[in-house]
Amino acid sequence: MNSTAIAASGLRKAYGDKTILDGIDLNIGAGTIFSLLGPNGAGKTTTVNVLTTLLTADGGTARVAGYDIATETKAVRASIGVTGQFAAVDDLLTGEENLQLMADLHRLKGNDRKQVVGTLLDRFDLTASARKPASTYSGGMRRKLDLAMTLVTKPRIVFLDEPTTGLDPRSRRTMWEIVRELVADGVTIFLTTQYLEEADQLADHIAVLDGGRIVAEGTPDDLKRRVHGSYLQFRFVDLAVLDAAAQVLPGSTADHEALTLQVPGNGGTKTLRALLDRLADHSLEAEEVSIHTPDLDDVFLALTGHATTEAEAQ
Ligand SMILES: Nc1ncnc2c1ncn2[C@@H]1O[C@H](COP(=O)(O)OP(=O)(O)OP(=O)(O)O)[C@@H](O)[C@H]1O
Ligand SMILES: [Mg+2]
Repeated sequence: MNSTAIAASGLRKAYGDKTILDGIDLNIGAGTIFSLLGPNGAGKTTTVNVLTTLLTADGGTARVAGYDIATETKAVRASIGVTGQFAAVDDLLTGEENLQLMADLHRLKGNDRKQVVGTLLDRFDLTASARKPASTYSGGMRRKLDLAMTLVTKPRIVFLDEPTTGLDPRSRRTMWEIVRELVADGVTIFLTTQYLEEADQLADHIAVLDGGRIVAEGTPDDLKRRVHGSYLQFRFVDLAVLDAAAQVLPGSTADHEALTLQVPGNGGTKTLRALLDRLADHSLEAEEVSIHTPDLDDVFLALTGHATTEAEAQ
């Protein structure tokens, strides 16, 4: 069973004469984590707002949980939870009161209300601070409370717009665990993030948004394969040795400032030994050898046009 949670076709949005979304197609399977990546101003929040019916699209169509975002707004809203880029927490209320307010907004009563609030406080490790005003919470606690508020209605599709921006590594990992738990329960996650490692860790499928269009998509591994592959990097003691080595190692690229030579290869011991032997045959020796494997940072830089010199050289 792999039904579609979110499907969009040709979504467009402009502010005045400025096109923000220039034809976005999406197909997100139920129970998966989809991550939308893109530089500041790429249109990530705009996409979230359109799909969650907070904004009306100028063109294109989309179905969320099977409902049309243009004509079945109410049903869409009833099926989703949204944690915005800026927390919806009320500072004057305690954590518990924030959750109770959400429960009241959704007309939960009596034991249901009590149980949902209690379970969420517990699950997010907020029980001890439940009676303190949210203004006294740390950034990580606020983020958790914000997400807990989103989950009061037990939505099957959750939109998270930069859920871990500004969190320390430990709080970020806690968030990741919570997201993974949700998905294990069958929830679909639509995640935007600035952190490529986050997308790499969590996402089943990634789309890179730039200039209002999706410029690449696939699994994290698919995307990594799209940029230049792994290479071995040799560092030499001086320019003379570097130049001599460049002559004997075919396909290598020299960096004269760093005194390094890059040779395409995956770091397999056979390749490495062959290269070192070849250097030794010419009485040349490397000071240092390192292996560079492409990560999503390389992909992002290459795809959004702010290519690194290495990517450009390819
Ligand atoms: N209400 C608005 N009126 C005019 N322009 C807007 C409005 N809201 C957003 N924009 C513009 O739309 C573009 C996309 O904004 P959006 O918030 O979707 O980007 P983002 O990818 O979420 O960026 P960030 O990473 O900074 O959160 C930006 O250039 C922004 O200035
Ligand atoms: Mg945004």
